Amino acid sequence: MNVLGIIGGTGIDQLQGLQLADSHQLDTPYGEPSRAVQEGRLGDQRIFFLQRHGSPRAIPPHLINYRANLWALQSLGVTDVVAINAVGGISASMRPGRLVIPDQLIDYTWGREHTFDTGADGSLMHIDFTHPYDPALRDALLEVARQEQLPHHGRGVHGVMQGPRLETAAEIRRMERDGCDLVGMTGMPEASLSRELGMAYASVCMVVNAAAGLDDKPLTLDMMRETLHSESAVVRRLLLALAASGRY
Ligand code: HPA
Repeated sequence: MNVLGIIGGTGIDQLQGLQLADSHQLDTPYGEPSRAVQEGRLGDQRIFFLQRHGSPRAIPPHLINYRANLWALQSLGVTDVVAINAVGGISASMRPGRLVIPDQLIDYTWGREHTFDTGADGSLMHIDFTHPYDPALRDALLEVARQEQLPHHGRGVHGVMQGPRLETAAEIRRMERDGCDLVGMTGMPEASLSRELGMAYASVCMVVNAAAGLDDKPLTLDMMRETLHSESAVVRRLLLALAASGRY
């Protein structure tokens, strides 16, 4: 049986519509997750929810304990992780307000604890990461997005930067040449850690601003929050429909 776990990002502090049943304060071999994992019902389905930036404390992207977060979800029985990411748009079509279900990523992060592999058990862990997002889970998301008629892009390359600062205009031009459509800070190592633990992982990206240097507006958190607010309502509809899709 598949069990859905949702990792909320900026703008998704609480999962509205989640009927809270329990809260799991876990300790893991890697330390504590960002906060207690909430368990509850979304529609008729039992799901788990974890806010990766913590609450009320705001943990910046480079200090999130990604290993503890993924370990905690897996130990609760989660098989499918849907990650919500606020991102900047690089490609012309990925403008603020768009929802994107990416199919590829490029990892530009550094210095994060990015693997469970310590080499201690004598075997090497080289996961296949050709397709970083689980194709079946992505298909399930695309199917419900179509059914619910939620405007979205079904593909995109998510470039994951270290942060917490935003990028320079030249960094964004380089990312564009690399083939990135989106830029965010939290997509890695979440995706590869999920794969190491054998959980399916897919991402729903909310474009909240045009990436640095692409329009003449200064990048402010207030501007991003405004877009986030309207987009998170659409993301909630998508998650509700996914939970009810029969996969769980
Ligand atoms: N860059 C990196 N991360 C982001 C951005 C951005 O422009 N917008 C939201 N998260």
